[in-house]
Parts: sequence; C-alpha cells; structure tokens
Amino acid sequence: MKISHKYKICVIGAGHVGLVTAACFSEMGYKVICVDNDAAKISSLKKKILPFYEPELEKIVIKNTKNGNLIFSSLLEQSIRKSDIIFIVVGTPPLSDGSADLTSIENVARAIADNLNSYKLIVEKSTVPVQTGSKVKETIHRYKKSDVEFDIASNPEFLREGKAIYDFFHPDRVVFGVEHARAEQILRRLYSTIKAPVIVTDINTAELIKHASNSFLATKISFINAVARICDLAGANVNKVAEGMGLDKRIGNDFLSAGLGYGGFCFPKDLEAFAYISKKLGYDFNLLQEVKRINEEQRRYFVEKIKEHLWVVKNKKIAILGLSFKPNTDDMRFAPSIDIVNFLLKEGAVIKLYDPQAVREAKKIFKNPKLKFVKNAYEALDKCDCACFLTEWEEFKKLDFLKLKKIMHYPLIADGRNMFDKNLLEAAGFKYIGIGM
Ligand code: UDX
Repeated sequence: MKISHKYKICVIGAGHVGLVTAACFSEMGYKVICVDNDAAKISSLKKKILPFYEPELEKIVIKNTKNGNLIFSSLLEQSIRKSDIIFIVVGTPPLSDGSADLTSIENVARAIADNLNSYKLIVEKSTVPVQTGSKVKETIHRYKKSDVEFDIASNPEFLREGKAIYDFFHPDRVVFGVEHARAEQILRRLYSTIKAPVIVTDINTAELIKHASNSFLATKISFINAVARICDLAGANVNKVAEGMGLDKRIGNDFLSAGLGYGGFCFPKDLEAFAYISKKLGYDFNLLQEVKRINEEQRRYFVEKIKEHLWVVKNKKIAILGLSFKPNTDDMRFAPSIDIVNFLLKEGAVIKLYDPQAVREAKKIFKNPKLKFVKNAYEALDKCDCACFLTEWEEFKKLDFLKLKKIMHYPLIADGRNMFDKNLLEAAGFKYIGIGM
C-alpha cells in the first residue's frame, strides 16, 4: 500500500509516551505538532533540551525538528485546528482513592470540541479506564459548536521506558479500538509500515487490553517474588525456578525476574486504576490488591535481610547503587530505591548514592542532608559496610570486584535484582544477599 504522508498529526502531551509518539511519527515522515501546556517544557524542547532521558530520542527529535517534520507548541487551540489526527497523551495521575484523574482528558476533549473546524480522528493513547472513550465522545458532542464530524479511537501504547523507540517501531501488536470503518482505515494507513499483528476491537475492549496487560505483567512479577520468599525459606534458587518455569511456552520467561518488585509510573498506577474501575463496575478484583501488597513488601524484606546481616545498622556506611526504577531511564517515580533509602535512613545508616542517569531526578526526592550523592560507583563503595544494588545497570555488571573487595570496609553485597553470580562472589570472599537465592 502507498503510504500517505498527508496527515497532519497533533500529539497532545509531551510526557514520556507523548514525546516518543510525536518523535516516532515524525521519523516515519508525518508532519507532527507536539503540544503541551507546560510552556517551559515546550521552550526547552524548542532548544532541543529533552525533559527526560530516553535512548535514541534526542537524535530523532533533533533530526525531525531540523527537517520540519516535528514542531513543538504550547498553543493547543491552533494545533488542534491545524490537524487531521489528534492523539491524546496527557497524564492520568492517580487520585488518593486509586482512581485515575481524568481532568486533563476532559479539558482536552473540550478544547477539541471548541476547535473542531474539520473532520478529525481523535485517538486516545493515554492509559485510561474502560469507558473513557465514550465519555470523550459525549463531551465533544456536548460542547462542539458545529456539525463537523469526528471519530474517536483507542490506540493504547505499550512502550517501555528505556526501550521506547524500539518498542514503537517493533511492537508485539498494535491495537485499534474503533467504532467505524473510517477510523480503522486511517489508523491502518498511519501504521502501515509497522510490521506487527493488528487487533481491531471496539473502544471499551481496546482500553481494557491495556489495563489487563499491565496488571497481568505486574501479577507475574509479584508471583515470582512470592516464590522467591519460599525459595529463601526452603533453600532453593528462584532464578533457576524461573528458568524452569519460563521454558514452558505457556508461561514464558519474561517478567519472571525476582527482586525488589516493580516501580515506575505505569504498573503501580494502572493496577490501582484497574482495581478501582473493576469495583466501580461491580467486580472486586482482589487479586490485584494482593499483587500490590507483595510488591510493597519486597522492599521492606530486602532491608530486613540487610539488617539481619549487619546487626546494628546505625552509623554503618551503605552504598546505594542504582536509583531509577529500572535501568536506561532517569525515572524515579515509584522507584523501590525511595522506600529502601528511607528505611535505611530511619535505621541511622550513613548513605552514599550513585546512579548513572537518575541523580538529577533523585535530588528532587532525596533532600535529607545526610545523603551524599557521588560521581561513580567506586566512590560510593569506598569504605562502605554494604553495597546495595537496586537497579541492574549494565555498568554495575562490569565493576572490578577485586578492587571493590579492597576498598570496601566490609565486603557485603546486597543484590536487589539478583544480577550477580552468588557463587562467584562468595568464592571471591564476598558475603552475598540476594532475593530467593
Ligand atoms: C511498562 C510496560 O511494560 C509497558 O508495556 C507499558 O506501556 C508501561 O509500563 P515500564 O514501566 O517502562 O513499562 O517498565 P517495564 O520494563 O515493564 O518494568 C516495570 C517494572 O517491573 C520495573 O520496575 C522493573 O524493574 C520491574 N520488573 C520487570 C521486575 O521486577 N521483574 C521483571 O521480571 C520485569
């Protein structure tokens, strides 16, 4: 099929998913306006300063702003009026009861209604509770001032931070939740160069695919973490249990790494929002509460294991290596490091912190003057009584452990991600704490 690059796309929201979506569509040759109401963020983006770290993203943004495919704007009305396809990628942060705050979605829907000057396909990409699409449609109908037609669609995004560009161009599947063939046709054309199975459903089903997928992945992680606890009690090795389970094709080995559990802005928030909407619809999805409980407990459990080993934690020097919720991102949202550092601070530990990318973000969270940020892993490990690895950054796997042994005061490795070979480290004279090992 011939690809039509005539569509003008507007991506509303320059957060992680929004900015990646805008950049990748511009890389495909479309004309994209990425709009955000945070004027400071837009003015930085115009200077090619990105608000977060994502491998490859900067390169794509620079290339496509130069060739004119990608522009940034804080003028929502104008951007809507100029576009044929509008992606809504604004935040849906959690409220205190666990439900998703849909205020920004409603505001955008109203702005679209006010500026509906020609046919537009309005695509939800933000993760939203089921039935949000129909509310967006209702809102636009309620406030629109003309008879101009529009379609609503849901096209959930499954990209992972740190691998977002790869995931955008190589998805496992593309989901189109639509009401009419016209919307399906436009979306198929838009994505025609992406080679992946396409699933076409109604909008409610597409919205549910996203919540159910993230909740299932979180469940897989909590399941293996519960198994890890049993491994510790029984004297078994959870990495091997996971390997043995994962080779069964029906189970698969992804998302079976035991450790400190999941963090980040998606899993914790989506799990809560899915439990909330399920209950609101009349079904108590209690399994999800248990998934959350197991996840939260892992952090405390890890600290208890360290305490057991160090006996008195007060005044012990502890190196924290890895702060972001996972490698290849500077994202600190819901990172296990936040709870772990706070637990250790409460115990009176003297803490040095290091992360290859997340220090700037971490400094916004860790304000206690007792915490010292250092420039590299060796500086953190110098004279420490315990090295806590909380994120499995590649550079940690390349550390010179013979050197570590010499510079550490006491050679205790607390491996929150089961990233090192316990036997090798013990043979080299280290004490080793893993999870389920
Ligand atoms: C996730 C989904 O994977 C993605 O499809 C969705 O669009 C957004 O949410 P992301 O939050 O970027 O992506 O992170 P992901 O790579 O999925 O990891 C989530 C968390 O689970 C991380 O904290 C990670 O350390 C943890 N994890 C993952 C485990 O603890 N064990 C595993 O086996 C896998």
